[in-house]
Amino acid sequence: MLVHIKDLVKDAKKNGYAIGAFNITNLESVLGVAQAAVKTNSPAIIQVSESAIRYMGLKPITHIVSTVAKNVATNVPIALHLDHGTNFDNIFECINAGFSSVHIDASNLPLDENINLTKQVVKVAHAKHVWVQGEVGAIVGSHDDITSKLKKIPLAKLDEVINFVIQTKVDTIAAAIGTAHGVHANENIVFSLLKAIKDKVKTPFVLHGGSGVLDAKIKKAIKEGVNIINIGTDLKVAFCRTLIEVCLKSREETDPRNLLKPTIAAIKKVVSGKMKLFGSAGRAGGSKIET
Ligand code: G3H
Ligand code: ZN
Repeated sequence: MLVHIKDLVKDAKKNGYAIGAFNITNLESVLGVAQAAVKTNSPAIIQVSESAIRYMGLKPITHIVSTVAKNVATNVPIALHLDHGTNFDNIFECINAGFSSVHIDASNLPLDENINLTKQVVKVAHAKHVWVQGEVGAIVGSHDDITSKLKKIPLAKLDEVINFVIQTKVDTIAAAIGTAHGVHANENIVFSLLKAIKDKVKTPFVLHGGSGVLDAKIKKAIKEGVNIINIGTDLKVAFCRTLIEVCLKSREETDPRNLLKPTIAAIKKVVSGKMKLFGSAGRAGGSKIET
């Protein structure tokens, strides 16, 4: 079922677990996430990037996610979120299309400009009961990079995070605490910074760059109060590796479904594992249906 993100986050916060926010790129990945949610009885956030919107189209994505949420994930709650929205028009289109949450990522701008832009998005989004995620201290790395060691992973400044949250009144907050997009050998979580943020900021915290972070660190981050964990690269890798393997073995295949079906299973497997790790498995009961 399709729900508002606030219902998922409220329950996660109350019960000390994290919800996976999974980046989808096509129908197969939407089905894989929904099937994993059903299998593990878990809530889930399905999130789309601006590049996913360019690839699939906003209306097709919105309809696919809501139809799959209603008809495949019948008894488990799924929320739809825009990830790393940078373009004002795109954000408003998502709000109007029925997303219950949008991320305005102006973290590359100077703090005062980030705050001003985020405030404007909050004003429009809140008028339509849509949640807003803000970001402080840009999270580096690229979603499809799985090989390199990053030169430097910059961290957010505690006072900037506090100031940003107070001024913008965002509903969820992302900040650079040592992870990066993609899978990198030197990704880390700086727990002293996470703890300091959680001590001062009660806004639900979103961990970006979840792929490539050790399970033990993810578990500890959830204990420290992380409520949403973004996973993108792991799903892209599962899809591509599986598709390449199947295609190499089935060079004479003429039915695309026989090539693509295993990719759904591959994504379902990865997502199910994350749901168990995040503690969201078995937690599908806590949310209300969106009205
Ligand atoms: O916004 C999406 C993410 O932060 C995903 O990061 O590709 O490292 O899992 P990841
Ligand atoms: Zn991210």
